[in-house]
Amino acid sequence: MELLKKRILQDGKCFEGGILKVDSFINHQMDPILMKSIGVEFVRRFANKDFNKVMTIEASGIAPAIMVGYLLELPVVFAKKKQPKTMENMISTTIRSFTKDREYNVCISRDFLKERDRVLFIDDFLANGNAANGIIDLIEQAGAQLAGMGFIIEKAFQHGGDTLRERGVHIESLAIIDSLDNCQIKIR
Ligand code: G4P
Ligand code: NA
Ligand code: NA
Repeated sequence: MELLKKRILQDGKCFEGGILKVDSFINHQMDPILMKSIGVEFVRRFANKDFNKVMTIEASGIAPAIMVGYLLELPVVFAKKKQPKTMENMISTTIRSFTKDREYNVCISRDFLKERDRVLFIDDFLANGNAANGIIDLIEQAGAQLAGMGFIIEKAFQHGGDTLRERGVHIESLAIIDSLDNCQIKIR
């Protein structure tokens, strides 16, 4: 997606340890016009897939996910990182965060992830794929089906995408970063 690649090169910043900071347009301040184009591109790439629900994880996945849900008029559900006291029929899984170097739980209510659901998962980053694997675990626990996974940015040098593709998951990444070595952003 050319518009996105240009924006990453223009406004993205490299951090120690292979971190790409995009907080001026994705992770903190958000550009809704770019986010809409991202939604349109996901819709195009998953046009031949059959799904009835969009899923993401809070917080940064919500913006692109809601764009897709809005465009296709489908419900959007996000896995929560803090278990609400009032959540009924909860399923949860543990995710190990590479960026934050810690483990955290994510949960979702079975009320919003049902056996008959076919899910398109949308998130901002694909790095090691830990978050994505956690989501697959939730979908499996619910007995639902995964139709595909769309990421705004995939960091190919962390290989989470390779593992998921080997498992047969349909992955679409709108910008693929091959390297952030020497604080140089190399986009495929
Ligand atoms: P993984 O799921 O692919 O293994 O990645 P990881 O555990 O590292 O992801 C943990 C968090 O860090 C996720 O967001 C993910 O989107 C984000 N992340 C991973 N790599 C980068 C990066 O290079 N730059 C930025 N800005 N974020 C990255 P989160 O911590 O769950 O928080 P939220 O922003 O979605 O609330
Ligand atoms: Na995220
Ligand atoms: Na993030």
